[in-house]
Amino acid sequence: MDDLGEYVGKPGYTMLGGGNPAQIPEIETYFQKATADLLEDEDRFRSIIGTYSAPGGEAEFRTALAEFLSQSYGWPITADNIALTNGSATSFFYLFNMFAGEYEDGSHRKILLPLAPEYIGYKDAGLSPNMFRSYRPEISFLEDNFFKYRIDFANLEVGADIGAICVSRPTNPTGNVLDAAEMEQLSRLAQDRQIPLIVDNAYGLPFPNIIFSDEAPTWEPHMIMCMSLSKLGLPGLRTGIIIASETIVRRLSSMNAVISLAPGNLGPALVRNGLKSGEIRRLSDDVIRPHYENKVWKTIGFLKESLEGVNYHIHKPEGAIFVWLWFPGLPITSQQLYEKLRDRKVLVIPGEHFYPGLPDDPNDPWPHRYECIRVSYAADIEDVKAGAKIIGEVVKELLDS
Ligand SMILES: Cc1ncc(COP(=O)(O)O)c(C=O)c1O
Repeated sequence: MDDLGEYVGKPGYTMLGGGNPAQIPEIETYFQKATADLLEDEDRFRSIIGTYSAPGGEAEFRTALAEFLSQSYGWPITADNIALTNGSATSFFYLFNMFAGEYEDGSHRKILLPLAPEYIGYKDAGLSPNMFRSYRPEISFLEDNFFKYRIDFANLEVGADIGAICVSRPTNPTGNVLDAAEMEQLSRLAQDRQIPLIVDNAYGLPFPNIIFSDEAPTWEPHMIMCMSLSKLGLPGLRTGIIIASETIVRRLSSMNAVISLAPGNLGPALVRNGLKSGEIRRLSDDVIRPHYENKVWKTIGFLKESLEGVNYHIHKPEGAIFVWLWFPGLPITSQQLYEKLRDRKVLVIPGEHFYPGLPDDPNDPWPHRYECIRVSYAADIEDVKAGAKIIGEVVKELLDS
């Protein structure tokens, strides 16, 4: 799968593999105008491009975001609870290495991922080996070929060697959204053990709001909420946001100072005014969420048509920008299926790579791990349709042979 990068933008290939957000005209126009406004304002422009921010990130943006979150959801935070980074991939590198690996007392701690499959990007973010522990999920079968993963709390152990718990919500790769009861239970487990609960909210509320249920997000001082401007439409500007206790924010700011002096200013500068005016919220609620919600159901329609007669399940689409397809009894691995699809110029991600921290125990095999693929539906809908058709053809050929 390391070859995936070779195919990005290659003519003739249908890219349903990457994590790039969709290009939505209204969002592009908004950020074009925000950029033009910034260029017009000479003093602001000079300060944004000509000065380093504080190590914790652009102060005015952090203040605007703290006000927005406390007014919208009652979170008890100020700018001192917010650190910015150069993208949430950087945020996770900082956080995982802050809470796991070697401790001063000689102990070794891990990050607990309570439900695998989980985000592939965490996999190599640890500076020491064996940084993750994860657990198989419970699987609920739903009507209409859908299924849903849930945390298997009966088997979940939060031992003394766990330094933090982390979940992506909505989850990349599956589009799962842990429900409020699951979140509450995780939060209590973390609190009892006096370790943080890290929530990767890259797709969630309040922006970009690619989550298809309505609930107010919560934050408590033992939680570390990670957000990003990427799925709002600014992946090229590399802006991650971490909301945490003041102590953790100070430590993150020091890490920024060592690793990059200061995070970039441009992403925060383009979003700040829209946060204050409510426009970012409106775009998330009225443009971004409907865009993806419409598209996910169209994608599922294309897949259902192309997979007619095949034994398959689709994870219930609750958020994020992916459809997670499961072929029970697949006679080859998901990696091999990826290769067959790649030969037909359709790029997806093989599911078997989304299990950081879950040993593949030959004495206790779990075929499910090799039976799923992740399909992004962020591309142009005609490309998604063409890709879905080829997925159906390749899977049928395989099963027929
Ligand atoms: C769940 C999740 N977390 C984090 C990231 C990384 O986002 P960023 O662009 O802010 O580094 C992604 C990107 O696809 C993601 O899917």
